Amino acid sequence: MKLLIKNASELVTCSSFKAKKGDEMKELSIIEDGAVVVEDGYIKRVGKTEDILKDININEYEVIDASNKAVLPGFIDSHTHFVFGGYRADEYYLRLKGATYMEIMEKGGGIINSVEATKKASKEELFNLGLKRLDSMLSFGVTTVEGKSGYGLDFDTEVKQLEVYKSLNKSHPIDIVTTYLGAHSVPKEYKGKNMEYIEYIINEVLPYIKEKNLAEFVDVFCEKNVFSVDESRKLLIAAKMMGFKLKIHADEIVSLGGAELAAEVGAVSADHLLQCSDRGIEMMVKKGVIATLLPATAFSLKEKFARARQMIDRGLAVALASDFNPGSCFTENLSLVIALATLYMNMTLEEAINAVTINAAAAIGKEKEIGSIDVGKKADIIILEHPSYKFIPYHIGVSIVEKVIKNGKLVYD
Ligand code: NIG
Ligand code: FE
Repeated sequence: MKLLIKNASELVTCSSFKAKKGDEMKELSIIEDGAVVVEDGYIKRVGKTEDILKDININEYEVIDASNKAVLPGFIDSHTHFVFGGYRADEYYLRLKGATYMEIMEKGGGIINSVEATKKASKEELFNLGLKRLDSMLSFGVTTVEGKSGYGLDFDTEVKQLEVYKSLNKSHPIDIVTTYLGAHSVPKEYKGKNMEYIEYIINEVLPYIKEKNLAEFVDVFCEKNVFSVDESRKLLIAAKMMGFKLKIHADEIVSLGGAELAAEVGAVSADHLLQCSDRGIEMMVKKGVIATLLPATAFSLKEKFARARQMIDRGLAVALASDFNPGSCFTENLSLVIALATLYMNMTLEEAINAVTINAAAAIGKEKEIGSIDVGKKADIIILEHPSYKFIPYHIGVSIVEKVIKNGKLVYD
């Protein structure tokens, strides 16, 4: 199958095969009046429309005319928890009245509520909910998403969640990268016995997940009153030895040393980082850990935002993601995430676009395959209804994505 996208007023390529660090994040590599040639799902040529038209026989191509429209790489949402049962609107309502996320958790609510609902939900129910959520993500221009378990905690429910992600991956155009987050909360049966739970995960769960190839990444909620730095370290080192790549929910509510731990164990990304220390930033720069920032979560929790400006100025590669989940952030809207990053974290719009494309690809270990419009990469491309990427945060709260092309096929129009 051959596809030509031509006459794009702005072809925003985000060109790179590795994460963009620090000042590199300023560059979007835009081609005016650009065109992309796609063959068999991959990008074959990128350039000015007039140059490309000279070289090809247009009759062989399906053609999309992107006149007066901006064309970008598909967005990558590199941190979500989108397979879960039940909702927590009542908790959100309490938070509107002043209760904090941690107070709700300490009273027995929070993640554990979603765990109970996810245990009760059948695989089919979770699958159908997942499909609906993926459709919504697609409408916001997402072509690849990372999805975490962590609403099961027990063996069967964690495996159920991961298997649902695998079936969704086969049934929906969006590609899904899965992460095992059994250490999302301490299950009731292990209350006060965190280390025992970590050992149970290491001995009983990780080998099965590896054998069945149910997850590429292992993640942990390293937080005061959840898992300590020592408990997280033990889990992550064991996971690494089994061949998993690592992520950490780090320094979200309390500055615990999660960023430092991410650097120490060689995590691909440390996520949240609202309370990350200066030393944590320095260590992440040295080790090339990606800072995945989740401003819609800070916004929903009324927390202060992560220090994106300092992180980028000190040379970090920053990715942005939604954190879509039933508790702290119930949105799949990456345009809103970009708007919040530019309004409240002082990121430039160019940095924010790189953060949901090439840097997000790097945050899931796929920077050589996706995340930019470069020859050889998968043809995951979005077309906006407006002529410039500058409309993305401006038309706030909605999607201005008109078309989505996934693996060279038009999957949303
Ligand atoms: O990334 N912080 C921990 N995990 C999720 C929230 C999960 C939930 O509240 O259900 C997060 O914010
Ligand atoms: Fe999260």
